[in-house]
Amino acid sequence: MVTILAIESSCDDTSAAVLRDNVLLSNVIASQKVHEQYGGVVPELASRAHQQNIIPVVDAAIREAGIQKTDIDAVAFTRGPGLMGSLMVGVSFAKSFAQALGKPLIEVNHLQAHVLSHFIQAESGSTPTFPFLCLLVSGGHTQILLLRDHFDMEVLGQTIDDAAGEAIDKAAKIMDLGYPGGPIIDRLAKEGNPEAFKFATPQIAGYDYSFSGIKTSFLYFLRDQLKVDPDFIENHKADLCASIQKTIVSFLLKKVERAALDHQVRQVAIAGGVSANSLLRSELQRICDKHGWTAFIPPFKFCTDNAAMVGIAGYYKYLRGEFADISLPPYTRG
Ligand code: KG4
Ligand code: ZN
Repeated sequence: MVTILAIESSCDDTSAAVLRDNVLLSNVIASQKVHEQYGGVVPELASRAHQQNIIPVVDAAIREAGIQKTDIDAVAFTRGPGLMGSLMVGVSFAKSFAQALGKPLIEVNHLQAHVLSHFIQAESGSTPTFPFLCLLVSGGHTQILLLRDHFDMEVLGQTIDDAAGEAIDKAAKIMDLGYPGGPIIDRLAKEGNPEAFKFATPQIAGYDYSFSGIKTSFLYFLRDQLKVDPDFIENHKADLCASIQKTIVSFLLKKVERAALDHQVRQVAIAGGVSANSLLRSELQRICDKHGWTAFIPPFKFCTDNAAMVGIAGYYKYLRGEFADISLPPYTRG
């Protein structure tokens, strides 16, 4: 049996988790509220908050797991991509902790970790088998991946500009709904009519995406409407949320469905922060049911950033004997 302590600090969540093999023993997340008033993550404030949070979060993860520090066999950490200052805190902590324990280090790619969260032993249900497709959708990334093995992920398509989560967050910002906009739009959309307004999606070749045009046409549409009715957003908030959400989700899934058909894959997973979106979840299930495919939809706690996913990625690297040198620096881009 292998016990892994995992650390995640790539953006604005400080998280630590303990796994015993593929079983999660604890997963502690400290979310940083300080960014809300700025409508986005402020990097300097994020690294400062990570520094305040990291020791209590790791302590809590070890305590909740019911283990001793000496039980830890390896320390896994997110090396990148992410914000440099944020990564530095988790990376430095992981290195010193591993060195103090005399245990090996395992570096983890944040995006791979999001995808591999599907291999954390589930309380119910099964894990995917290879090959399978995964739509990775977060605030920073939008990719369709074909997985042939745990670390063999072929990028079939990706966004050429904004990420899906970024587009949703920007739409929310335009409507002055708050940050992060994803969960707010999801909630308000439940009361609205998704067919109320139509927003065009761009024609992009293959399995690639583009979201900046959707955001711009949303902005211009609202500008025109506000000239006629200054209360337009207030009066149509739910319909606007439902319509923009539907536009983005349909665009995402249309390409995923195409990719699964073309590659004859019968299992489709979603991962990353936007996979918490209720329409994306229900629409993926509907498409999979239609084709007789299996949908893998992560529990909410594994959608947004967490260390449990870093731990499961670390576990598979441990099995492969892939350990990291203490001199490795973080990297900001995937
Ligand atoms: O994976 P994540 O926590 O951080 C990154 O690695 O980027 O993803 C954060 C993104 C944000 O854009 C947030 O608005 C979005 O995930 N998000 C959602 C929902 N919950 C979080 N988007 C749509 N619907 C949601 N329910
Ligand atoms: Zn993430």
